[in-house]
Amino acid sequence: MTPETTHPQQPNTKPFAKVVKRICEFRSSGSVLDVGTGEGTHALFLASQGFEVTALDVTDEKFAKIAEEAKQQGVHIKTVVGDVLSLDQLGTTFDIVICTSVLHFLTADKIAAAVEQLQQATNPHGLNVVSAHTVKNEGEVRAHLFAEGELQAYYKKWPMLYEWEGLGGPFMTPSGELMQKHRSELIAEKPE
Ligand SMILES: C[S@@+](CC[C@H](N)C(=O)[O-])C[C@H]1O[C@@H](n2cnc3c(N)ncnc32)[C@H](O)[C@@H]1O
Repeated sequence: MTPETTHPQQPNTKPFAKVVKRICEFRSSGSVLDVGTGEGTHALFLASQGFEVTALDVTDEKFAKIAEEAKQQGVHIKTVVGDVLSLDQLGTTFDIVICTSVLHFLTADKIAAAVEQLQQATNPHGLNVVSAHTVKNEGEVRAHLFAEGELQAYYKKWPMLYEWEGLGGPFMTPSGELMQKHRSELIAEKPE
């Protein structure tokens, strides 16, 4: 079985957000900022597709591993320590800004500011690719779980290229636990 959230070329211990693969339906090149890159799974995939990728995270814990995998795959990824709440400090903007499975780690009072940072870090006609866990994950303890339509509401003024809310496919955690999560996800294009 190929879990829905896993890229076929990646081990299934690394969850892969399907929304990231959908980027290739809308863009085939450009600069990408992967905010909260984690193990860099999405960053590595997009670099392999020819995008110019910067992977950002609050911790550099996984950067050496990402660099090693990038070398093995013959791709280049720039890694940067940073916070979704201060992307303006990067001093540059990107054609595509991704932020998957990160926003639910922020408290409710920080979400609007974080989304604003994602939007401001995006070039005109660029894309935001965002996913987050929703309140339907009963018993899940996160700083903030998104209500139905909540994430999309931040993008009212952006043409929506793709949006989805539901139960994602199963994936295996590094500790061997099989999981499925309710998520809200979208791809929106920044107006002029
Ligand atoms: C569950 S992982 C998601 C990794 C990857 N984006 C994915 O979808 O598989 C969450 C990542 O977000 C990072 N993170 C948490 N808070 C952050 C913040 N305020 N700014 C940037 N990254 C953050 C964590 O360090 C972690 O690497």
